[in-house]
Amino acid sequence: MHDRRFPAAQAHKLEDPARLEWLPPAEVLALLNITPGEVIADIGAGTGYFALPMAGRTGKRGRVIAIDAQPEMLEWIRRKMETSGFTNIQLVHAEAESTTLPGASCDLAFMANVWHEFPNREAVLAEAVRILKPGGRLAILDWRPDVERIAGPPLEHRLSVEECTSEMENAGFQPQAMGHVGEYSWLVVATRK
Ligand SMILES: C[S@@+](CC[C@H](N)C(=O)[O-])C[C@H]1O[C@@H](n2cnc3c(N)ncnc32)[C@H](O)[C@@H]1O
Repeated sequence: MHDRRFPAAQAHKLEDPARLEWLPPAEVLALLNITPGEVIADIGAGTGYFALPMAGRTGKRGRVIAIDAQPEMLEWIRRKMETSGFTNIQLVHAEAESTTLPGASCDLAFMANVWHEFPNREAVLAEAVRILKPGGRLAILDWRPDVERIAGPPLEHRLSVEECTSEMENAGFQPQAMGHVGEYSWLVVATRK
């Protein structure tokens, strides 16, 4: 494991109720245009902070594939599924660079608060191109480098929305929307050409 990966031992921080105030899932989901029946890959899903609300939007005709490199994170989601009754979340232990999902199988690939952790973003984008259907969407959310928050990653690890957008374009995505969300984050939504 490299030094930027969020440690599973700190997973409880992703469940801090204060997070619902400064990064409300509903505000993010409203920008993703999820429709019932869609298949969503939540890459770097962590404790399922976004995976569960997204599974609510896809309904039982669709599903969320929660992918994480740390099995302890997937265990958090499995426990949440038990208590919440969600059955349309599939847990996949894999790296973002090689998700093991079939090609052209997803409507939306979503990556939240993990972009700055990837050592090889080009490989992650190539994998997103592979798993998305033509016209599918890629949504990347990460920490703003211009607003400090003690709990977030160090400022020098954060990437700007402009850098992300340019890397997405180079990988074959067409940006559709970008902007700030919550108090400390940016979001880019792009389509696969
Ligand atoms: C900071 S957490 C964010 C979790 C969740 N997206 C959220 O916003 O609550 C980052 C997660 O990405 C996972 N991760 C980091 N690098 C990864 C990679 N290359 N492949 C798959 N998962 C990765 C970590 O294990 C961790 O669970």
